[in-house]
Amino acid sequence: MIKKISTYLFFLLFVSSVGAKNQDLPIIDYSSITHPEIGTGGMVVSQRKVASEVGAKILREGGNAVDAAVATALALAVVLPRAGNLGGGGFMLIYSEELKKTVAIDYREMAPLQASRDMFLDSNGNYDRKKAQFSLLSAGVPGTVAGLHYALKKYGTLSWEVVIDPAITLAEDGFVVPHDLSSVLSNYRNRLTANAATARTYYKRNKVPYEAGEIIKLPDLAWSLKELKKQGPAAFYKGKIAEKIVAEMERNGGLITSEDLANYKVKERVPVKGIYKGYEIVSMPPSSSGGVHLIQMLNMLEPFSLKEMGFGSAQSIHLMSEVMKRAYADRSRYLGDTDFVSVPLIGLTNKEYAKALLKEISLTEVTSSEDISNGNPLPYESPDTTHFSVMDGKGNVVANTYTLNFSYGSGIVIPGTGILMNNEMDDFSSKKGVPNAYGLVGFEANEIKAQKRPLSSMTPTIVFKNQKPYLVLGSPGGSRIITTVLQVVINVLEHDMNIKQAVISPRIHHQWLPDVLLMEEGFSSDTIDLLKEKGHTIRPSRTMGSVQAIISKDNYLYGAADPRRPEAGAVVVSP
Ligand code: GLY
Repeated sequence: MIKKISTYLFFLLFVSSVGAKNQDLPIIDYSSITHPEIGTGGMVVSQRKVASEVGAKILREGGNAVDAAVATALALAVVLPRAGNLGGGGFMLIYSEELKKTVAIDYREMAPLQASRDMFLDSNGNYDRKKAQFSLLSAGVPGTVAGLHYALKKYGTLSWEVVIDPAITLAEDGFVVPHDLSSVLSNYRNRLTANAATARTYYKRNKVPYEAGEIIKLPDLAWSLKELKKQGPAAFYKGKIAEKIVAEMERNGGLITSEDLANYKVKERVPVKGIYKGYEIVSMPPSSSGGVHLIQMLNMLEPFSLKEMGFGSAQSIHLMSEVMKRAYADRSRYLGDTDFVSVPLIGLTNKEYAKALLKEISLTEVTSSEDISNGNPLPYESPDTTHFSVMDGKGNVVANTYTLNFSYGSGIVIPGTGILMNNEMDDFSSKKGVPNAYGLVGFEANEIKAQKRPLSSMTPTIVFKNQKPYLVLGSPGGSRIITTVLQVVINVLEHDMNIKQAVISPRIHHQWLPDVLLMEEGFSSDTIDLLKEKGHTIRPSRTMGSVQAIISKDNYLYGAADPRRPEAGAVVVSP
């Protein structure tokens, strides 16, 4: 008997000691086919590992998540020129552990004072694609420099001079050209070398693209960054950089004046919030449509068990696609810059409204987009935006998405600065009811007005569990950003995937119009057949989005950089 009791006690001791040890270990699920980066003390995940390293170093040196985010953004402006930028704009969501609140920093571009509703129409009243996308007229007043500086001064702990230094070094000393950059520069050669300053900045002599492995130096961009280091944002909005921007606008028919630059305003906004099965979803309000429709779609999905339906099943894809259509129909009708138009934010993110929309959804049959609404579809947005996520060891979190709009924006570098100008003005709807170059038409809430911000889809998002940041994520992808973020959130919260698997798993997208369901590679032909039987028109799609995400769980951080784009990377502060 005594032997039996002592064996039992020993067994209990053994189990509890194993249990205690396991609690201190990161949870690696060996049944999973893929694994996240795991670390402690902080993590930065961005579309260029070299930029993530810059942010992680700032964290190691005692900076907080905002310090690291600003340093990462400035580094991406050098090493990821197709989306990282000084001449564009974006959105930063910051959770401050000290303040116990999340703030949304809107540093989206603003239309110049001389901008007007019909500025992209030709003499026959037709949409002029070249003007709207590839001229200096396509540039909104950039917000990136002001936005990053605002975030740092209000929520960071390090000086501007410290966080800008790594970007100066990368631009001045140069960096190794990865295959990704070399092949993109080669593909875009005609468009980018059409502008002499862009050709000088990003190509070798005679417009020859850099090859992978070569060092590219960006001396003009280094000059701009050094001006910014000395003068802060004043260099960009009032000083020597401003002078060069205005001179180029005057020389080549742009609208941005010194008054426009001096009047640029960062807006700190209240994020949009929703609850999904007990998790709090906090995301970007207008001038992005991202957060509103992420929450609207989650509200519609909440009554269902997508887990029981199974990831990638025809049933779950059908439901998600029907939900996406409703959200995007509303986006088209209601969304615009809330400083100019009234947007029913509370109504759109309300659970009762989601229930009303669900009544129209059949689980067995497609509703044709024509029967959902006769409103106006969303304008095209380019996929070349970039997102990065940061968590520090103190509980602060940053989700930042920013862009030039198209790859390399307008393709125009302001001479002497190395700064590429955005073509964000094309995110406005240029002509009501008339399809643009991509077969899509626009709408009134998003028409062009002086000092208005064009509607965006960027969706930097933080998900909270028991009031603590749990998941941070975001993505590029134009109109596909919102559905990309939705699916990664669902993969984690519903399908219990680890963050790497959640990010890697194939995605779908429906945006109401055109009435087609886009599907990435990776779904079975049986699923596709079942969807066709339900009435879906399916189009295979190139990859969608590039999610950079982190989960915080049991004192460990789990990060995933999307393999859809090469050179992305998660960097931890310590293992
Ligand atoms: N230019 C892409 C977006 O703002 O959504």
